[in-house]
Amino acid sequence: PVRRGDRPANVHERTGNALRSATARQPLLVEAAWEACNPIGGIYTVLRTKVQTMQTKWGNRYCLAGPYDQVHALREFESDEGASPFRPAVEAMRAAGYRVELGRWLVAGRPWIVLLHRSDAQRYLGDVKARLWRDHQIPTPDDELIDGVVAFGECLRVFLSFLTQSGATAEQPLAPEEADAARAAGEHGAGPGDHEASPSGRAVVAQIHEWMAAPCIPMLRQESWPGTFVFTTHATVLGRYLAMNDPTFYDHLPFYDAGAEATKFNVASQHGIERAAAHGSQVFTTVSDITALECRHLLGRDVDHVLPNGINTERFAAIHQFQHLHDEYKNRIHEFTIGHFFPSYTFDLDKTLYLFTSGRYEYRNKGMDLTIEALARLNHRLKAEGSGVTVVFFLITRAATRSISVASLKGCSYVDDFRRTIARYERQIAERLFMEATRGGTTDLNTLVDDYSKLRLRRLQQEWKRSGLPSVVTHDLVDPGRDPVLDQLHRCHLHNAQEDPVKVVFHPDFISGTSPLFGMDYDQFVRGCHLGVFPSYYEPWGYTPLESIALGVPAITSDLAGFGSYVAQHMPAQRHGGAEGGTAGVPEGVSIVPRRGTDPNHSAEVLTEEMLRFCRLDRRGRITQRNAVEDFAQDFDWRQLAAHYEEAYATAIERL
Ligand code: G6P
Ligand code: GLC
Repeated sequence: PVRRGDRPANVHERTGNALRSATARQPLLVEAAWEACNPIGGIYTVLRTKVQTMQTKWGNRYCLAGPYDQVHALREFESDEGASPFRPAVEAMRAAGYRVELGRWLVAGRPWIVLLHRSDAQRYLGDVKARLWRDHQIPTPDDELIDGVVAFGECLRVFLSFLTQSGATAEQPLAPEEADAARAAGEHGAGPGDHEASPSGRAVVAQIHEWMAAPCIPMLRQESWPGTFVFTTHATVLGRYLAMNDPTFYDHLPFYDAGAEATKFNVASQHGIERAAAHGSQVFTTVSDITALECRHLLGRDVDHVLPNGINTERFAAIHQFQHLHDEYKNRIHEFTIGHFFPSYTFDLDKTLYLFTSGRYEYRNKGMDLTIEALARLNHRLKAEGSGVTVVFFLITRAATRSISVASLKGCSYVDDFRRTIARYERQIAERLFMEATRGGTTDLNTLVDDYSKLRLRRLQQEWKRSGLPSVVTHDLVDPGRDPVLDQLHRCHLHNAQEDPVKVVFHPDFISGTSPLFGMDYDQFVRGCHLGVFPSYYEPWGYTPLESIALGVPAITSDLAGFGSYVAQHMPAQRHGGAEGGTAGVPEGVSIVPRRGTDPNHSAEVLTEEMLRFCRLDRRGRITQRNAVEDFAQDFDWRQLAAHYEEAYATAIERL
């Protein structure tokens, strides 16, 4: 029905009646997001880690859709034009003049993915924007980001339109895994396959993540598209801005004039799309009860389901394996610490604990302000206790920097020099010792090394010493004078002074294997640490504490983070030695700082206490906590949590 170059406006109105009534085969599921095959943030993690669990239910009928980006496609995409139930729609779209990539997303599970070239919708941009305004009162002024979103939205609209057309879902043999899934669904009673929808086509469930993929929802609903939408928001645009700017955000939440605030923060398009999608979707969902509250007040619709985020837990056959990894990576962090601190003064590495926080540089939202305040209090308490424990606190985020600072680089290169010189030493000593020992003589160990090596080592030791204090930051910031972290560290007198047991290292860049300072991936760095600290003020879900415990590292979260709130509400406490060996519950090693309706002073006090308690543990206590949290993380595997997604799909199909 569509000529080349035609846009398939209302194609389903033409074919719709025929599609609507009789028996269908199993439904198709498309999960569309700006972050599919496009690593940006948390949504990418959600999609990537969930694939294999989705496939156990949906098999070949599961497909992702995202915007085409050459760089990421080269890395993460492999073209595959094989027998995919999504191929007819892709071909129809190509015939209509759009470039579309069909293939496999190269992540565990290798699911189908459709990548849409949004530049091909550019020629219709004016029309689409006019339509968004005329029919949905969504303003979309010229702006690179908004234009990209509108163009991607139009491509998605076209793709989903073709997907529900008869031609696009013509009879095809079931792929083997599909047949299995079908059998399984039959055996276990009601499954997604029992649904009835269109006569020649299948039902299509489209799950749209976040406003950036959502303009297709109001447009397709207006066209009476025969598929069914699940819209999932991972935050509200407005909530994020308001939380950043209003210290009493949660008190004011029920009373904001959302439209006016959106205009004030210059996010009227984003908010308009989000609101239209929330109201237009058959099923509206979000990631936590906290964000659900924002949805009610800022978007004006209650969510139908909360879909908590899971992870893929990788389990080792034996517990000691991950404990051993902690030790290995901790030794790598020790090298950094030596390079950074030891030129000024030294401390006992065996009594040093590595604490860290990480995340986007939303200073207040991520609770960095609370963390620094609590660190200052911890410093005082530890000093008073005189236990000899040193805390090195890493604050990992990304701020505008010029480069790694010279002092940090120097620290690393000296450590390398020491290693090299000592390696020469080692070889010499071993060789000479061997010769002398085999000759049966007595050995004067002092003669085993030549004068050159001794001199070189002494010179290194001299050059390496410095008089100033170790810096609290590893990079040269573009605007150090207005940096909130540096400012607060200064106000709290956290200067890395020798007598202070709490030291701080602000690393204003994300950790990666190629960075010269740590030379390890983020996951490895986390494993090497002892405790993650994430007392967020605004965090719809928050993967950081969950990632931490899944890697066997205890973590602190807050009751204003989706994850923390979920734990507090759904999981029984098992704290302070209680319920040993009894039912599984929240173990020691996962703590939740109260921030909801609490004054900041109290929150800071609880956080200080939690950190102090951790510092008082002996090694055995820390090992026990690591084991317990790693075990606890199993409850957040997608194998458990994907059930919420299935519920949402079932509701969506019911409402079709
Ligand atoms: C792991 C290793 C132990 C090591 C310990 C250090 O458990 O298997 O060999 O002693 O880590 O723990 P800590 O908490 O002191 O870094
Ligand atoms: C957003 C939220 C974050 C969440 C992620 C995945 O980035 O800010 O809290 O973890 O989405 O849902």
